[in-house]
Amino acid sequence: MKKLFLETLGCAMNSRDSEHLVAELNKNEPYNLTNNLEDADLIIINTCSVREKPVAKLFSEIGVFKKRKKNGAKIGVCGCTASHLGDEIIKRAPVVDFVLGARNVSKINLVLEKRHSVEVDIDFDESEYDFGEYRNNPLKSMVNISIGCDKQCTYCIVPATRGEEISIPSHLIVNEITKAVNTGAKEIMLLGQNVNNYGRRFNSDEQCSFTELLQKISKIDNLERIRFASPHPLHMDDQFLEEFASNPKICKQIHVPLQSGSSKVLKEMKRGYTQENFLNRCKKIRELVPEVTISTDIIVGFPTESDEDFLESMKVLEEVRFDQLFSFKYSPRPHTEAIDFENKVTPELAGQRLTILQKRHTEILDEIMELQLGKEEFVYFDELKTGNRISGRSGGGRLVYVDGSEELLGQIKKVKITKISRASLDGELI
Ligand code: 5AD
Ligand code: SF4
Repeated sequence: MKKLFLETLGCAMNSRDSEHLVAELNKNEPYNLTNNLEDADLIIINTCSVREKPVAKLFSEIGVFKKRKKNGAKIGVCGCTASHLGDEIIKRAPVVDFVLGARNVSKINLVLEKRHSVEVDIDFDESEYDFGEYRNNPLKSMVNISIGCDKQCTYCIVPATRGEEISIPSHLIVNEITKAVNTGAKEIMLLGQNVNNYGRRFNSDEQCSFTELLQKISKIDNLERIRFASPHPLHMDDQFLEEFASNPKICKQIHVPLQSGSSKVLKEMKRGYTQENFLNRCKKIRELVPEVTISTDIIVGFPTESDEDFLESMKVLEEVRFDQLFSFKYSPRPHTEAIDFENKVTPELAGQRLTILQKRHTEILDEIMELQLGKEEFVYFDELKTGNRISGRSGGGRLVYVDGSEELLGQIKKVKITKISRASLDGELI
């Protein structure tokens, strides 16, 4: 059997695209995944372009592939960087056999046939394409509900790499989840750039909001847990939050990407909400679901961010006390508006702000984790570890380890938390 080395960078959507790549390849000819570059007949890197660093890394990685690949092995560059650099990749690195954009995954067998093929059309519509079946972990399946992104956040390259937003018809989503449940998934993760904007545009005349989609999905027998990533604060209307709170199948974990706490910067980012709106939504979520875990993304050093603006981000951090923080230094990206903004923040200053933000978040997190000791949680066990250990996630998404073996895989059990650390919890079955 042929061997595939597949490296995936970036977000959950990219991970799902990688599963689709494997599934599509297998339609033509079966491939075994390998971690060994030298063994591979096909080497694919599925790239992210949201920040600059991974792009620079791409070309050094291609150099490594070139040196270590066996004779005749092919190299493909897929994903968001493929979308925005296109044939430039082959010009800079002719060893690359094909370039396949983030919205062209279904063409993988086509580009494999012809050396130096480039398929990066961001208007290509895969929203109703019948992808093959492949999942890294069948116990918790990722399911796309939309492709592309219609927002115009001034820092973000994604609309240029993944094109306009199209929702996948709800009956296809329900069918896919039903199949996943029938092959062992008790939990599914709905994926889209702005999941709660679902229904914005279909190819058909279907009308279905995200709230209605959640209601349809929760009727699927034997599906126990629904998660989703990522929602947009702007579309967190009361109806959606009430569904989130009252639907027992929806895990009480929500990502509310802040980006900046300053209303002035939010306006320059074109996020569509103010600090006040954001705090109001988080307050409402906590009122409706006191046990909820809230995570967020914050960018520091946006071109127009002053010291006062940064302090506004710190203020929101103090008020919301996020359970998880993903924080980034602003990175100027091509095809974005902000690349032309006069940048008043040096990398050193952005670095200092990032350190301050992360240090304070760590202190908050330590206090939050202290409170987990002795709690009882329902944990869905989905990964075997070495040394007779097994891990899973609580409803709130916290990683929990217990002593146990294979028979616990795929089961939801009540666990008492006996030990805490910053990143995970230890517990005992009760
Ligand atoms: N610079 C830094 N961070 C960015 N993100 C998106 N674009 C940029 C950029 N140009 C962050 C946002 C987004 C997350 C996926 O990446 O916080 O939510
Ligand atoms: Fe995902 Fe955005 Fe990175 Fe593309 S650019 S892989 S959509 S995070």
